[in-house]
Amino acid sequence: MSVGHSRVLASGAEGWFRLDDHVALVTGACGTLGPIWVEALLEAGARVAALELPGAPASAGYKALESRCRDRLRRFDCDITNRDSIETAAAALVREIGEPAVLVNNAGVDQPPDAGGARSPIEALPIEQFRRMVEVNLLGTFQVTQVIGGGMAARGSGSIVNIGSLYAAVSPDQRLYDHMPGDVPFLKSPAYGASKAAVVNMTKYFAALWGSCGVRVNALSPGGVQGAQDDQFKAKYGARVPLGRMAQAEDLKGPLVFLASRASSYVTGHELRVDGGFTAW
Ligand SMILES: NC(=O)c1ccc[n+]([C@@H]2O[C@H](COP(=O)([O-])OP(=O)(O)OC[C@H]3O[C@@H](n4cnc5c(N)ncnc54)[C@H](O)[C@@H]3O)[C@@H](O)[C@H]2O)c1
Repeated sequence: MSVGHSRVLASGAEGWFRLDDHVALVTGACGTLGPIWVEALLEAGARVAALELPGAPASAGYKALESRCRDRLRRFDCDITNRDSIETAAAALVREIGEPAVLVNNAGVDQPPDAGGARSPIEALPIEQFRRMVEVNLLGTFQVTQVIGGGMAARGSGSIVNIGSLYAAVSPDQRLYDHMPGDVPFLKSPAYGASKAAVVNMTKYFAALWGSCGVRVNALSPGGVQGAQDDQFKAKYGARVPLGRMAQAEDLKGPLVFLASRASSYVTGHELRVDGGFTAW
């Protein structure tokens, strides 16, 4: 094969992952992982609508992108638990940047150990906390899919990526948290994994429903992403993972662009676990 030929092949392969002239929408875009998805989509050439709770502070990661890519990144207020709010944001983004071809359902709530707030033993876990996780993680994702996905189905194309979690597939290993100080031991909430498992199941529902309309629907389930966790947690977590470490931002971008782009044109209803092999043993 000539060098020229292999160059053509290489640029063809890169082309499968490009999102030039596409509008992509990311919910909960101004938190920790949101800017990673946004950056990946911008790098693939998309214009990006960042949906976020009104007044929610933007993370440093999001602010950096905003100042670098002002022409292709716009923030819109949206509470994903409120149908009117979703419809208002959808109308504004269509008017200002165009019809979305990619939807990343990322907004979600969890209760990590550093979140503060009262801890409870499982028997006393407030039902309101459980309800809130289902409200945002599952019902919010459903409502955004109704509004944005419904439009994609009517237009005959689109790619939806639902952000799941490692804990959609397996129970949290509470031993990862048992060194953390406090009178009441930290307990990773059962509501989080339950809500994410439901999101993965709903992914299959919409993949089946809208396959014939040209809309693909997949889940991307990250393992723990390295941030400000304490060293003991990071060491214990790394020891549980075949790849020996927590995920880094760069580990997540390729899988997202794969699912968003035509590189995955025959992939739908799939849960792509980006967990370093955590669920493999
Ligand atoms: N960080 C991780 O290690 C990790 C691992 C696996 C999965 N996830 C999932 O990735 C997604 C993002 O997580 P993160 O770590 O960036 O969390 P985060 O809390 O840093 O960011 C979540 C964002 O969603 C927004 N949000 C919350 N409720 C909303 C609502 N009702 N409407 C609109 N926006 C709302 C928040 O304001 C916030 O900006 C979540 O779905 C989470 O479950 C995270």
